[in-house]
Amino acid sequence: EESRLVVDNDFEVAPVNDRLFGSFVEHLGRCVYDGIYEPGHPEADEDGFRKDVIELVKELGATTIRYPGGNFVSGYRWEDGVGPRDERPRRLDLAWHSTETNQFGLHEMAKWLEKTGGNELMEAVNLGTRGLEEALDLLEYANIPGGTKLSEERRANGADQPFGIKMWCLGNEMDGPWQTGHKSAEDYGTLAASVAAGMRAIDPNVELVVCGSSSHVMDTFGKWEETVLEKTFDNVNFVSCHAYYHPELQPDGTRDMKSFLASGVDMDGFINDVAAAIDATKARLKSKHDVFISFDEWNVWYLNEEPSKNPEGIGNWPVAPRLLEDVYSAADAVVFGDLMITLLKNADRVHAASLAQLVNVIAPIMTEPGGPAWRQTTFYPFSLTAKLAKGGTVLEPKLASGTYETDKYGEVPTINSVAVRGEDGTISVFVVNRSMEAANDFAIKLPEGFALSAVEAQTLHEDDLLAKNTLEDQNRVVLHPNTTITSDADTGTVRVTLPPVSWTAVHVK
Ligand code: AHR
Repeated sequence: EESRLVVDNDFEVAPVNDRLFGSFVEHLGRCVYDGIYEPGHPEADEDGFRKDVIELVKELGATTIRYPGGNFVSGYRWEDGVGPRDERPRRLDLAWHSTETNQFGLHEMAKWLEKTGGNELMEAVNLGTRGLEEALDLLEYANIPGGTKLSEERRANGADQPFGIKMWCLGNEMDGPWQTGHKSAEDYGTLAASVAAGMRAIDPNVELVVCGSSSHVMDTFGKWEETVLEKTFDNVNFVSCHAYYHPELQPDGTRDMKSFLASGVDMDGFINDVAAAIDATKARLKSKHDVFISFDEWNVWYLNEEPSKNPEGIGNWPVAPRLLEDVYSAADAVVFGDLMITLLKNADRVHAASLAQLVNVIAPIMTEPGGPAWRQTTFYPFSLTAKLAKGGTVLEPKLASGTYETDKYGEVPTINSVAVRGEDGTISVFVVNRSMEAANDFAIKLPEGFALSAVEAQTLHEDDLLAKNTLEDQNRVVLHPNTTITSDADTGTVRVTLPPVSWTAVHVK
């Protein structure tokens, strides 16, 4: 099979926002405890942060970090996590049926982010068990320089300068019946509107993310966005989208891989649908204000399938149990790369995104307590996309590709691809071959007059689609140079063969 991408410098989608490469650290399982924070580990620094994990986070290229949840935030009292460590209370975490020791909180997170290279903090407020007052208290504590009760408390707790947090999530997945303090769209929209107005009164520079739907398939999807946006539009900057994909188990015990490989089609449709809700609301309100999408949870997640389950029992609330520790395959990484292509293609509407999550919990980075840290298969498409696309401009994808049939999404393109022009004028092309049967001869037509001097391509592909990186075999799946790449400066064409079920990044100088 063949496909072709025409790269045209004159047609831009949007600049690549650094925030597209955000990630997410929730107090969930071993993401914080035994993940980024493990005092006593041979690699721990003076603050108890694992230096090996910090190095991997830097290599991953993650930017904004969403924190502290997730479902966790809907029962969280932020003040439990500040002040002298030995006075911090142990609390029930209802979301994950665990004990929260509060040994890690806002100050630790801010310090950790400095050490990972100055990543931006995206803080979530609890609109499940809490409301306006506590959200305003947290903002005062975090962003007011001094001279008030809460800002002085922060200073006394060791942070003389304000944290200056710009991005704030107004709760988490409030449409989900599983959420502590779950609300109707009407009730949530009313609460979010008052919290947004109050937060802006304290700090007009905050950028606020109102909760959209927890997934494209929620019964309330669409109506939820319209109701919530109608109430909050002029006071918020983003509406959130969340999406997780996995190959569904069929009655015959096989998995629907063909639909899974087309997950990017669903994500693309989700973004278009939410963009339509934003536009319709804007028109109805005759607003001049712009609201963008924060795709602040996305990943492959074998929801409810990984061996660990939420602990149960009135006397059983473990600290940092193993939860959601999905081990990703080569095929998962290909779909993951496709989702990143889809986010880039929609860079005009999606101005922020967070890979859920960062360490141990549905994560690109895994750790063993007292032991090593390693990269999952999904680490590779993330880090290379971030490295090549940051600072660039997405060009309009003009792509000719064959199609194939899926049970879930009907006929879908076999190839998904996007081109990004770098600040230095180089071109990076990201491409997936979704076919399970055939390799694809992919041609890239470079812009008129492009002075082609060098090309290289890296591919993630394994004949064994289920190959994984594990504690015992940490480097089983990595990127490999794609040696099929050729270029023709006269015609301005680059050609590369894409194996079945593969993700490739091409860099042209
Ligand atoms: O990322 C795991 C969980 O998925 C988050 O806590 C929640 O927001 C979502 O349902």
